[in-house]
Amino acid sequence: MKKFYFTLLAGLMLVSSIVSAQDAKMKTFIDQLMKKMTLEEKLGQLNLPSANDFVTGAAASTDVAKKIIAGKVGGLFNIKSVAKIKEVQKLAVEQSRLKIPLIFGMDVIHGYETVFPIPLGLSCSWDMDLIERSARIAANEASSDGINWTFSPMVDIARDPRWGRVSEGNGEDPYLGGQIAKAMVNGYQGNDLSKNNTIMSCVKHYALYGAAEAGRDYNTTDMSRQRMFNEYLYPYKAAVEAGVGSVMASFNEIDGIPATANKWLLTDLLKKQWGFKGFLVSDYTGISEMIAHGIGDIQTVSAKALMAGLDMDMVSEGLLNNTAKSLKDGTVSMSRIDDACKKILEAKYKLGLFEDPFRYCDENRAKIEVFSASNRKEARSIAAQSFVLLKNQNNALPLKKAGTIALIGPLADAKENMGGTWSVAANLSKAVSFLTGLKEVVGDKANILYAKGANLDADAALEERSTMFGKSLHRDNRSAEVILNEALEVANKADVIVAAIGESAEMSGESSSRTNLGIPAVQQDLLKALLKTGKPVVLVLFTGRPLTLGWENANVPAILNVWFGGSEAPYAIADVLFGEANPSGKLSTTFPQNVGQIPLFYNHKNTGRPLNGPWFQKFQSNYLDVSNEPVYPFGFGLSYANFNYSEIELSNTNLKGNQTLSASVTVTNNSNVAGKEVVQLYIRDIVGSSTRPVKELKGFQKVNLKAGESKKVSFNITPEELKFYNYDLKYDWESGDFNIMIGTNSRDVKTAKVNWVK
Ligand code: BGC
Repeated sequence: MKKFYFTLLAGLMLVSSIVSAQDAKMKTFIDQLMKKMTLEEKLGQLNLPSANDFVTGAAASTDVAKKIIAGKVGGLFNIKSVAKIKEVQKLAVEQSRLKIPLIFGMDVIHGYETVFPIPLGLSCSWDMDLIERSARIAANEASSDGINWTFSPMVDIARDPRWGRVSEGNGEDPYLGGQIAKAMVNGYQGNDLSKNNTIMSCVKHYALYGAAEAGRDYNTTDMSRQRMFNEYLYPYKAAVEAGVGSVMASFNEIDGIPATANKWLLTDLLKKQWGFKGFLVSDYTGISEMIAHGIGDIQTVSAKALMAGLDMDMVSEGLLNNTAKSLKDGTVSMSRIDDACKKILEAKYKLGLFEDPFRYCDENRAKIEVFSASNRKEARSIAAQSFVLLKNQNNALPLKKAGTIALIGPLADAKENMGGTWSVAANLSKAVSFLTGLKEVVGDKANILYAKGANLDADAALEERSTMFGKSLHRDNRSAEVILNEALEVANKADVIVAAIGESAEMSGESSSRTNLGIPAVQQDLLKALLKTGKPVVLVLFTGRPLTLGWENANVPAILNVWFGGSEAPYAIADVLFGEANPSGKLSTTFPQNVGQIPLFYNHKNTGRPLNGPWFQKFQSNYLDVSNEPVYPFGFGLSYANFNYSEIELSNTNLKGNQTLSASVTVTNNSNVAGKEVVQLYIRDIVGSSTRPVKELKGFQKVNLKAGESKKVSFNITPEELKFYNYDLKYDWESGDFNIMIGTNSRDVKTAKVNWVK
């Protein structure tokens, strides 16, 4: 044993001495380089313009190109392909004075050309290996095509589905969000950033961007420190703990100061308290937007951002153009400029760019890696695991591959929309529609008919706003009645109707907030008419956010929420519809009854007048017109299998200090198909020095159960799971009673109680 520890210790010492030798080598290299740099060149490193205007062959004549040659650019984003990136990198390493390579960023958010489900969908898999794998594949593809830096993951906790960017995040829960943040960072960065198939990750948007007032994008956020620390900050911190290389500051203000210039947020918390060692980049024009925020002119806001701890300026060119003057005025310090420059150079060093600026530019690799058959195969299976079966009355699903199936709806033949929002690298010309995917999977076993049935929305202008970036739904300009009647004729010929309706891809995402969260009326009319035919109807719901589905839940026999499943979604949907894949997704976000209930989330506080018992009760915390319940709670999702939960077994009910509590349930699949179930652990701290949520997710396990199989699922709980930030923001646990809850979703749980004292 002694020998083992000695060997282990020696091993650890060896690893740490190799790491510190590498660090020392990097430090020497960067110190020497920085000695040669002028102030202007140092500021150049902090400058990140967008490369929108680059075209191969014309690069050298653009404004950005001139700046690169002059050493005034640190990196570029929005540029795709080895050919273009190579050409631009050459300007930097062949024509600029110090030959410092550029870093190349891109929003590789949920896949590169092989597109995975939108992050909100992916989060519903609750499968960390699968999520990490999706990021790994994305990194592999992007890195082979010249990219070495991605603006992902987006880990903003969001409780307001009016906000379009809920689609880009992981839902409402900090614990689940934190696990996903780690998985994504690991997937992108691997264990060695200098490898040519790993890329630097950038966690965003730091911080609290998801709490925008009224769900309107870019709006103000304001919350107590306790809420911030207990409910919003953990996923960013988790990414930092996973070693994320960069962090993006958010657009919103925090405590009256925009995040981009908030010293407490950027320096005191992130850099000092959390020990973040990478670099901090602004969001797109985040610096110049502070003029409109009302905290100064470009000179002032640039100085404020830099001195608050920001290292890189995306697009504003505020740092590039104003910092020399601020240095003279004494509003910025040379040591801060040096520190920011050093951080950018370190990132480039770690990516191996000084050794080989063309490390990520390998046309041959790109040809093999990008949109490869094996990546697409994995994406198909991953997509199927992100879908959430919301309703399945009388086992309406799976369908048989037989007879005549009518596929109807504006999302049925809309290949450009399958990838969802923020699929910027996707090659839309290679996209496949749901109709094509369904036909391919069915082969000659069933007859597929198609009709559009309705436009996205009766309002053509709204449809135009919701179908930007080439993601057209090919609006049909005939009257709604004509389009509907045509669909009914088709529907009447079928044995079963599959309705492909919901949102378009760009109806969620950045700057796509909505105040009405229903399926657009014209599509709901279509659904009603289809139900009236008396044929079985399956609703395949496309959406980038929780919608208000009270009517649909009450009236449609089967609802499969497929989010936007990515480039392989059409095949994956067919796999699930026909039972070749069994749905196992669980919602990472609550689906409210109506917009008036928002924000509605499972981990709320109890209040002094909770509604204990049936709705409605006068003078209790509830509404006159709807109950407090969601349509679908957090953690909810059905399967073609059926799972039964035993009562909870506890190893102990009276615990002391650092003991470990084991809480178990036996889960039985009492159906005749195999399926996966996400077993969820929640804890309630019943009495605290501050009020505590009615429940908080503290663990989960995804288990695979064969038909008829039972498995014991155990969670080990330690005082770590009981900790929270108290009124003084001290992170600790308190003695008392705790409810331990285990179940299939946040509403349907088994409960047991323990007492735990210090
Ligand atoms: C978004 C970021 C994105 C950046 C670069 C901004 O508008 O808020 O999420 O990474 O643009 O494209």
